[in-house]
Amino acid sequence: MYGPVIEGKRLRLRPPKAEDAPVMITWFEDMEVTQYLFVRTPPSLEQEKEWLDARAKDPDSIFWVVEVDGKAVGSTGIQMIDWKNGFGLTGTVIGDKKVWGKGVGGELMKLRADFVFRQTPLRKLKSGYIEGNEASARAQAACGYVEAGRWRKDRFVDGEWRDLILTELLREAWEAKHPGSSV
Ligand SMILES: CC(C)(COP(=O)(O)OP(=O)(O)OC[C@H]1O[C@@H](n2cnc3c(N)ncnc32)[C@H](O)[C@@H]1OP(=O)(O)O)[C@@H](O)C(=O)NCCC(=O)NCCS
Repeated sequence: MYGPVIEGKRLRLRPPKAEDAPVMITWFEDMEVTQYLFVRTPPSLEQEKEWLDARAKDPDSIFWVVEVDGKAVGSTGIQMIDWKNGFGLTGTVIGDKKVWGKGVGGELMKLRADFVFRQTPLRKLKSGYIEGNEASARAQAACGYVEAGRWRKDRFVDGEWRDLILTELLREAWEAKHPGSSV
């Protein structure tokens, strides 16, 4: 499913539209953007449309486009949701590098967590980052994700094997830090 519109200070989360697909494939053309992603090659336009369509139909995922100043700059979501056990796997890509380092990633993670813990019964968000991805590590930490373990030398990046650090954010931890609030 697609997520509803969520307005933040620096960004807006909104459901994808068909016209986002040509913009989205350009994000995966840039090896700096994909350096720490699992997907490192661009999909075709047709594949991207099919992927967006599959997200809309998937009851176990919630997916948003990230908009800054009216422009689609990235995407974020929760995938592989296990409704019985109450967890899902979060991920983000900000494909427009001009937007990096301005607090967009950090803010969107908080808006996403706020939505999850106030609007769904999920009790845990799982995520991770590849060793060296400092922006992701810091944005996740600021949102309250903590390290749950690591798979050593798990991903091949720029000629070397890097650890995959596994992280998690529990509902209790979020609620303790953000009592009854909207971020
Ligand atoms: C990772 C990503 C989502 C972060 O988004 P962002 O908008 O650039 O992050 P923010 O501006 O909110 O910064 C988050 C934190 O990282 C720090 N940071 C940002 N860029 C950094 C960099 N290049 N090196 C070190 N720290 C950095 C910020 O200072 C901030 O730290 P703080 O909370 O301690 O102040 C974004 O860079 C991105 O999409 N990258 C490409 C795809 C990717 O790697 N996705 C994540 C996969 S796990």
